Amino acid sequence: MRDDQPAVAAYDLVKRFGDTVAVDGVSFSQPRGSVLGLLGPNGAGKTTTVRMLATLTTPTSGTGTVAGHDIVTGGEGVRRSMGLTGQAATVDELLTGRENIWLIGSLYGLDRQTVARKSDELLERFSLSDAGNRVVKTYSGGMRRRLDLAVSLIAAPPVLFLDEPTTGLDPRSRVELWEVLRDLVREGTTLLLTTQYLEEADQLADNIVVIDKGRIIAEGTPLQLKEQAGAASVVLTVSHAEDLPEAERLLRECSPEVHVDVGARQLTGQADGLADMTRVAARFDESRIVLDDIGLQRPSLDDVFLHLTGHRAEVEDPETEEEAS
Ligand SMILES: Nc1ncnc2c1ncn2[C@@H]1O[C@H](COP(=O)(O)OP(=O)(O)OP(=O)(O)O)[C@@H](O)[C@H]1O
Ligand SMILES: [Mg+2]
Repeated sequence: MRDDQPAVAAYDLVKRFGDTVAVDGVSFSQPRGSVLGLLGPNGAGKTTTVRMLATLTTPTSGTGTVAGHDIVTGGEGVRRSMGLTGQAATVDELLTGRENIWLIGSLYGLDRQTVARKSDELLERFSLSDAGNRVVKTYSGGMRRRLDLAVSLIAAPPVLFLDEPTTGLDPRSRVELWEVLRDLVREGTTLLLTTQYLEEADQLADNIVVIDKGRIIAEGTPLQLKEQAGAASVVLTVSHAEDLPEAERLLRECSPEVHVDVGARQLTGQADGLADMTRVAARFDESRIVLDDIGLQRPSLDDVFLHLTGHRAEVEDPETEEEAS
């Protein structure tokens, strides 16, 4: 792969299933050693996009490249350059963790010594050394995810597709997995990860592509997307409801637009940044109004999603989640 070639690119990818247009003209390009987050709600077309790039399903039209190989005409090269962790764990329940890694390693044609060495390394890296000789049936969800990832790394692919890698994990396992993924990127791996978790895209992705109903509705860095959703605001909570009118008058001196939520005893005004908030805090400090809380609120990726789609990103209960493919 040439240096200036993208690690992963999509060129007007389309996938139809009968009357359903699952992916409707998706294009992007991601440089090497970086993370692309494909963000979208259920049914947006994330898995289908990944499956086309991983050559598991053929595009209806359009194409893409992985490590410089065309996904339509160069499937063999694509498969040699990538690893895939699917939305549902694909490891074999009846084998041990170690055996699962061996199995895939030998499918890739690695010799026994290499497989043995690498499986030790991978088990260690994913904190599965102790569990490596137990059958996967006895693993927790988080351990299965980590094993799944370990298996997809046996061939050390330069490009890794991760379809909702942390769905169903508890917050701690999620943060641990993020750390492992960051390490991989530091070593030069390119990640394409799909997620419904805005926070996950925010944490990991250098670039985010937001898709809804098969189409790209926004793209950019996490910061750029947040900026699209508008400016930051200062939020104050007064201790006594009877202070609200006076508090509103004071806040108006600092911010032309003020929103009052009487029930929550909360006022929201515009603030560009910390300096604005400090000015507001000083103004209230001089007054006799007692505050419970004051803070600066920046739009979250959640707000971005709401702004773009008109609806909140819905995250399914992982228990009821089903594999779409
Ligand atoms: N094999 C298939 N046959 C028919 N329709 C399909 C098939 N695979 C996906 N679809 C449809 O294509 C659309 C996109 O599905 P896809 O699985 O790509 O979404 P997704 O973004 O991965 O959603 P989720 O967050 O639920 O995993 C959906 O409407 C889905 O029902
Ligand atoms: Mg999916």
